[in-house]
Amino acid sequence: MKPPSSTSYLLVPLAVLLIVFVLPALRPSRVGSDGLGVLCSNRTGADGRHTANVAPPAAIEEEAELSLLVGVLTMPNRRERRDIVRLAYALQPPATRARVDVRFVFCNVTDRVDAALLALEIKRHGDIVVLDCAENMNEGKTYAYLSSVPRLFAASPYDYVMKTDDDTYLRVAALVDELRGKPRDDVYLGYGYAMGGQPMLFMHGMGYVVSWDVASWVATAEEIVAHNDTLGPEDMMVGKWINLAGRGKNRYDLKPRMYDLNWDMDNFRPDTVAVHILKDNLRWAATFRYFNVTAGIKPSNLYHLPSLVI
Ligand SMILES: *[C@@H]1O[C@H](CO)[C@@H](O)[C@H](O)[C@H]1NC(C)=O
Ligand SMILES: *[C@@H]1O[C@H](CO)[C@@H](O)[C@H](O)[C@H]1NC(C)=O
Ligand SMILES: *[C@@H]1O[C@H](CO)[C@@H](O)[C@H](O)[C@H]1NC(C)=O
Repeated sequence: MKPPSSTSYLLVPLAVLLIVFVLPALRPSRVGSDGLGVLCSNRTGADGRHTANVAPPAAIEEEAELSLLVGVLTMPNRRERRDIVRLAYALQPPATRARVDVRFVFCNVTDRVDAALLALEIKRHGDIVVLDCAENMNEGKTYAYLSSVPRLFAASPYDYVMKTDDDTYLRVAALVDELRGKPRDDVYLGYGYAMGGQPMLFMHGMGYVVSWDVASWVATAEEIVAHNDTLGPEDMMVGKWINLAGRGKNRYDLKPRMYDLNWDMDNFRPDTVAVHILKDNLRWAATFRYFNVTAGIKPSNLYHLPSLVI
């Protein structure tokens, strides 16, 4: 594919779409990556593997016990947040014996500036997925995501598919450890809440995991579209589809290890799987401090940060 020239500028959105749909199929599987796929591709070898923190790839490949796709649903123009979230994933300790890939998920990119800048992110990070939908939160984006994943990643399926947001700090290793001993089929896991007298818990939109078979079922379930059940609060709707179909029998509530950060930011817990409502940089900074992500900066006369960050 040609890089976009000024005359083909209008084609940039299409190019982005093509790159996104074609690349995942071509990309070699990254079993045994640092757990975060190509997020660290600036420091990776030609095959997209992180060069630090990993044992020889072959050894890990044999050991990978499970695979997880993490889709962070966000918007093209939220670049500063995406930068923070990307760092948040990249700087985590790797999840051992697991293949975990993190992707930022958008609907159609319609703005030319967004498309151009997103093209750079694709070239640099290779962690973007653009779906065939109009950008929205509660009008079917989650449906577009879950129903597209089985096709987009058919060449290298995952055991589990996660949907999360760009105001959630997910601790991947902690989640993977939770999943390790769980079934690989018919799973629906997250922060459970009861709704409208339903006996079965719904999983909160801060982040939930379904097994690959559940995502594959969503892709084929005509009743979801026929009932307009793609529309509405996305987390409740996902729970509704799954409950109506009698799916997700292996259902796990990770409360209190998944939670909303409160106003005073004083309810962090060391065993956190996910903390949510990180709506501004102050809250991200507090989160990074709490989880020691800011610690261990090498002393240097080039900066004076440490006393401020710690
Ligand atoms: C998204 O973009 C593609 C390619 O330009 C187009 O075919 C499709 O109709 C668009 N979908 C929506 C929902 O806007
Ligand atoms: C679904 O929504 C469309 C458009 O709003 C409407 O025409 C149709 O009657 C709805 N179908 C059902 C089953 O509610
Ligand atoms: C952060 O580091 C401190 C000092 O080593 C330690 O006591 C604390 O448990 C760490 N916090 C977390 C969340 O791991």
